[in-house]
Amino acid sequence: MTVLVAYATHSGATRTLAETLATALQAYGLDTDLVDIAESPDPTGYDAVVLGSGVRIEAIEKPAAVWAAQHAEVLGQRAFAFFSCSGSASDPSKEGKQKATDTFLASFPVTPVAVKNFPGWVLMDRIPLHERVLLKSMRTPTGDFRDLKAVEAWGLEIAPLLAG
Ligand SMILES: Cc1cc2nc3c(=O)[nH]c(=O)nc-3n(C[C@H](O)[C@H](O)[C@H](O)COP(=O)(O)O)c2cc1C
Repeated sequence: MTVLVAYATHSGATRTLAETLATALQAYGLDTDLVDIAESPDPTGYDAVVLGSGVRIEAIEKPAAVWAAQHAEVLGQRAFAFFSCSGSASDPSKEGKQKATDTFLASFPVTPVAVKNFPGWVLMDRIPLHERVLLKSMRTPTGDFRDLKAVEAWGLEIAPLLAG
């Protein structure tokens, strides 16, 4: 039983969540490979797949959406789970909802066995200058909002679903 944890990130937060998730799945007893989507992982050799993506301008990372679309048929034949990593997930008034996730899944032909929207970080020194200007103009709250314990708990929760 081998699980692919593929992730797409710009400023690194999604990678840290994917690492935490992979460690939790391993603790449950699942073999897990952690691969950046930029390396174009091939999902065919895996029994289950988790895709994690950062959120930018109310969309998941384009490479994540393109990769998922390319491999939709293969993902539909396996247990598939999805998580997002965003700034707004730290806002309790969102009640766990993330527009980027909903938009992605609305047109994706595979129904995931589990979906979660986690808070990431918004750290100005990790993003390019022009994006800092954009975020400042939008008065986006900055800080490290990650809850790695929640990611670990989700990993242990979905492990049996991935194992089938
Ligand atoms: C240019 C830019 C646009 C963003 N747009 C959104 C957004 O629309 N909604 C949101 O919740 N967070 C938004 N964020 C915050 C990111 O989702 C957050 O920083 C997340 O941790 C990014 O993940 P990453 O570090 O893996 O790239 C944005 C961040 C940047 C830099």
